[in-house]
Order: sequence, then C-alpha cells, then structure tokens
Amino acid sequence: MNCSSFGKCGSCVLYQIPYEEQVEMKKNKLVDMFSQFDMPKLEVFTGSDEHFRARAEFRIWHDGDRCDYGMFGLRERRIVTIDECNIVDKSISDIMKPMLEEIIKDEYLKTKLYAVEYLSNSKGELIVTLIYHKKWDEEEMKPHIYALKDKFKNCDFVVRRKGKKLFLDKNYLIEELNIKDEVYKYKQIEATFTQPNRKMAEKMITWAMDSSEELKGDLVELYCGNGNFTIPLSKRFRKVIATEISQQSIDAAFYNADINGIDNITFLAMSAADFARLKDEDSPLIKKYDLQNILIDPPRAGLDDKSRKFVDSFENIIYISCNPETLKRDLETLSEGRKIKAFAFFDQFPWTNHMECGVVLKREK
Ligand SMILES: C[S@@+](CC[C@H](N)C(=O)[O-])C[C@H]1O[C@@H](n2cnc3c(N)ncnc32)[C@H](O)[C@@H]1O
Repeated sequence: MNCSSFGKCGSCVLYQIPYEEQVEMKKNKLVDMFSQFDMPKLEVFTGSDEHFRARAEFRIWHDGDRCDYGMFGLRERRIVTIDECNIVDKSISDIMKPMLEEIIKDEYLKTKLYAVEYLSNSKGELIVTLIYHKKWDEEEMKPHIYALKDKFKNCDFVVRRKGKKLFLDKNYLIEELNIKDEVYKYKQIEATFTQPNRKMAEKMITWAMDSSEELKGDLVELYCGNGNFTIPLSKRFRKVIATEISQQSIDAAFYNADINGIDNITFLAMSAADFARLKDEDSPLIKKYDLQNILIDPPRAGLDDKSRKFVDSFENIIYISCNPETLKRDLETLSEGRKIKAFAFFDQFPWTNHMECGVVLKREK
C-alpha cells in the first residue's frame, strides 16, 4: 500500500516496513513475549494491508478559510493535515474529499466542526458523524443535514456535541459477516464498539468456533458487544449467557439474535465484575447454566481482579485480546493448572504496533 500521508500521519507508524515484514516482526515479538508459558505454535491470520478499516475518526483542522482532515503527527503530538487515508474502506477513502468539500461550502456546517467519524459496511453504506465544539439548534441544523444527505445518498448522518445528538433516519448500519459458509447480520450502532477490520473479524469468529467444536456444557461470554462472537458461537452450545456494560450494544445484540433467528442466548447489560458477583451470591439466574466454558474479549485494560477470579473458575477459556501486555498478565493467573491449547495472532491493525490475539485454555485433570 502507498499513501501520501505516510511519514507524517501518526496512525501508520510502521509505514517504512513492507507488510510481510511487519507480520514477521509481530509474530516474533509475540512468540518472545509469551515464552514463559508453554505455548503451542502460533497461528497467524493476515488480511489485506489496505482499505481494511470500517471505522475511522478524523480531526478537522481550520486555518483561516481552509479546512482539512487532520491526525496526530508521527513525530510530534500535534495535528497534521492529511489528504488521504488508504487504510480505511474504499467507500470511506473515496468519499472523504467530496464530503469535506461539501461541508466547507456551508458556513453553518463548517464553523467549529471538530471531527468527522465514518462507519462503513461491506455494501458501501456509511454513517457519517459530525462532531462540533459549538452549541447548535436541532431545527436550525436539520436542513443543512438534509442537504448533505441529498448529495450523499449512501450516507446517514449523526450530529454530536457533548451530551447532545441528532440523527435523521437511523444511526446504525446492518453489516454482514461470512462465517463458515453462513451469512450473519449485525446491527452496528454508531459510537458503540464494533470490530474495525471486518475480514479479520470473520477470521476471529471462525477461529473461536473451531476452537469450541469439542466443548460440552453452556457458554458464558463477558464483553460481548453487539453479539459479534455470541451469535455464531451460540450454534455450538445449548445455552449462552452474554454480558456487556453498554446498554446500546446489548440492545443491538438482542436485535442481532432476532434477525439471525437465534433464541438460546440471554443478554444482560452489566459490568463483568457485577456479573462475577452474581456467581458469588449464588444467584438463581446463574444456577440455570452448566458453567464450563467462557469467552472473553475485554478492552485494552484486560481483566480486573474480580473478573479474573471469576474467569479462573471455568474449565475452558477462550480469551480474545487486543493488548498482549494485559493478556500476558492475565495468563499468569489463568494458565495455572491449565493447558494452553491454541494461540493465534490476528493482524487486525496493519501499519501499527497493535496486535490482536486469541488464546484457548483447558483445565488439566
Ligand atoms: C474489545 S470490545 C469487544 C466487543 C465484542 N466482543 C466484539 O467482538 O465486538 C470490549 C467490549 O467490552 C465492553 N466493556 C468495557 N468495559 C466493560 C466492563 N467493565 N464490563 C463489561 N463490558 C465492558 C465495551 O463496551 C466493549 O463492547
């Protein structure tokens, strides 16, 4: 991939290293980092090194009458302007320039526009979020957004400022993922968590399904988001209970189970630690499940102490992690008395140092 923003935009820090070398470098780093554990051979999943990101946020840089997209710089912590971005979906990279040109023509939309976020699906539909650092009035704003929508028919628009949100028709997309020859549909709501790299998401879910082929009992999932893993995985289990802190994501998860014809999942909007407490309290809700298997996909901070203790009570653990540092810390506890059956690297974030991993652990008798 080439990009005119390489070398100045801070998002692609590995821009000087060919893609295959980046993968090799990350692979070696992971093997090295986890050498204290008895790890199986690392499975490596790669994808495209361009147009792989389905969501992105760009700051807007105002300089007199000029208005440009900006990102934090590679070398200094200040905004640098960029002309293009080639890691985002083609539908985003194609529309970025005409979108900003159209916004600039309208003084009301342009003034104090702070950032623009894009979320795309595989059909090329987009949610475009305009974020302002100014007060705006809904009725005043609406005609400006209708005019934009008229120009960009494949886009829906959301307008935000702190504590306030406006959207016209909808603030979500329906995404389709292909997993093991089946198509799963997902409602993805703007500003809730969705996996940024759809092709890698398909590979991660497939890997998790393959890893759970032999598992008996029910499945507990923490940090389930909109049901990204939960929905395909529910086909492997009798019953599933899945939790997540964001009510909006849980609302999407209910919807997603429904549109995929799945009826064996209970979704709960609660924190991982609060859910762990239910077990300590011998809650009747939890007693209905045969608690042998758990899937976790926490944020970068990994597991808190309470949640780690809860996860440690399961026979089989599938751990998806976007931060090898906290994964390593958590494995120090979770690998005690367990065999590490699988270890995978999913290259979700080419051109960056970020690494997504999957680990499967099974209690040794
Ligand atoms: C890395 S995302 C994974 C989401 C989902 N598994 C997916 O693949 O789309 C982590 C999720 O954890 C949720 N989360 C963050 N802190 C949490 C907590 N303390 N308890 C439960 N969920 C939390 C976030 O809202 C987010 O949806």
